[in-house]
Amino acid sequence: MCGIVAAVAQRNVQEILLEGLRRLEYRGYDSSGMTVLNSGALTRHRALGKVASLAAQLATSALPGTCGIAHTRWATHGKPSEANAHPHHSSNQVAVVHNGIIENYERIKDTLQASGYSFTSETDTEVIAHLLAEKLATGLNLFEATQQIVNGLGGAYALGVMSAAEPSVVVGARQGSPLVVGVGIDEAFLASDPLALLQVTDRFIYLEEGDLVELREHGDIRIVDRQGNAVERPIQTFEHGDGAASKGNYRHYMLKEIFEQPDVISAALEGRLSDSSVLVESFGPDAQALFQSTRQVHIIACGTSYHAGLVARYWLERYAGVPVQVEVASEYRYRHPVVPEGTLFVTLSQSGETADTLAALRFAKTLSYIGSLAICNVPGSSLVRESDMSLMTRAGPEIGVASTKAFTTQLVALMLLTLSVSKAKGQPEQQDIVTALGALPALCQQVLVLDSQIETLSQAFAEKHHALFLGRGAHYPIALEGALKLKEISYIHAEAYPAGELKHGPLALVDSEMPVISVAPNDDLLEKLKSNLQEVRARGGQLFVFADERVGISEQDDVRVLTLPHVHEALAPLLYTLPLQLLSYHVAVLKGTDVDQPRNLAKSVTVE
Ligand code: G6P
Repeated sequence: MCGIVAAVAQRNVQEILLEGLRRLEYRGYDSSGMTVLNSGALTRHRALGKVASLAAQLATSALPGTCGIAHTRWATHGKPSEANAHPHHSSNQVAVVHNGIIENYERIKDTLQASGYSFTSETDTEVIAHLLAEKLATGLNLFEATQQIVNGLGGAYALGVMSAAEPSVVVGARQGSPLVVGVGIDEAFLASDPLALLQVTDRFIYLEEGDLVELREHGDIRIVDRQGNAVERPIQTFEHGDGAASKGNYRHYMLKEIFEQPDVISAALEGRLSDSSVLVESFGPDAQALFQSTRQVHIIACGTSYHAGLVARYWLERYAGVPVQVEVASEYRYRHPVVPEGTLFVTLSQSGETADTLAALRFAKTLSYIGSLAICNVPGSSLVRESDMSLMTRAGPEIGVASTKAFTTQLVALMLLTLSVSKAKGQPEQQDIVTALGALPALCQQVLVLDSQIETLSQAFAEKHHALFLGRGAHYPIALEGALKLKEISYIHAEAYPAGELKHGPLALVDSEMPVISVAPNDDLLEKLKSNLQEVRARGGQLFVFADERVGISEQDDVRVLTLPHVHEALAPLLYTLPLQLLSYHVAVLKGTDVDQPRNLAKSVTVE
């Protein structure tokens, strides 16, 4: 998704902005650009493709100046091209960077064209530059002009704007897309993601919906709310160290993040379990009462987070006895859901800024839920701020677009939720699961040791065009997640089926060119799964089975087996995720794809 970074400083800002853009690359983008104010003139470079292309332009023709804005674009209106890349200018008087979508831009564009403004891009954003120029021409300053035009913008936006007439001013506005102010010493910054600014500050102000901010020389920061009232927003210190934004010794962020899972799973559990019991208060002071009155749960999420929700359905129904519905946010938000009495609304999101999930929460708040809980990885994100309760997954920044550690820590949080709901309802303690959770990080470590074996297995996939993933019970969502990972980063078409559905269609696709991947934990569905696997073998399919050491599935010509350590049945979905992540990773590396930034995808989808 698009990214914004802006700075008003006492020093040259080009390198600060460029480094900010590099740090935003993980979000997914197709072009980038930068405008810096130099001796009263707006100077700009834009480039199609990677930030490295912009850096190359800057190396031959620098943009010196103490005030600037920069952007990575992910195309929504208009193809990826230099002309469509931000910043957009109006007569070299105004420069604008924008995240989000201006839904009423066509009508605004018609009016501006009728007034004589000509457009040089196909974007919705360019209307903002001309609207500002129109207002500035009436004698307003940049802040006042921005304040006036935002009321007429429909849709969602985070903006960073500057004017040639005001040499040390950047104005920002937020409505529906995240924007933070970085508080420096005698300097101030703006970004769509705090990670973009960790090289210059760890102190941030998270703007609220409708806020407008003005950054001036000497680090002056002025914020007004939607009504135009001056407001003070708290300065928060960013929790994760800057090291999280570097690859360390790993070839890709994704691999680093896969290998971080034992540590982040420990972090996700820390302080939330006693010896034999879950601490319900981890979810906040009201959790006990709320969970006690919870009769149903609705879980809403997108992408990988949705798969975590599907696993939680099995857990909450089996271990807490509570009926659960799970749905993707983009469907839920346009339905007319029936909310039975006593229903808790739960959102899952790594970023806490996914537009559909956020919209679903806002819609849910108009319905008769007993409360809302966000399970999220980003403290201070919109989802967390707008929910009644939240539980942080503590995965640390996840840079690889394909989600890995964020998913497994969500599963940990969801198991804590399951145990907490069960406990609050006075059901017998699930001590065995609590004990098994404590042992989970070490088991994950044992699975990661299998990396080189999985790398060897991956060679069988590099030339394939399709793959089928099978699982049963809570491992069906793990099969879905395995297929999603393979699609996302290796571009191999992959589908997942509950193993029992095989004979109702997908079996027709099975032949020697179709690898079939199955997870086979030692649970009560094992014998059924074994029969399904025989159905594959009988059709000449190549089987790849990730199996518990106790299940007794042996390697044969047409069956490759990777043996995993025994794990408590309840936690097997967590453990079996890891080898599937590694498999996708190695296949993608063999295929030579852009593992951390796969084509067409974005890390945080802040548009609908
Ligand atoms: C994008 C990302 C996925 C992620 C999904 C939901 O599609 O590429 O990795 O699962 O958004 O994001 P969230 O931040 O809400 O978990």
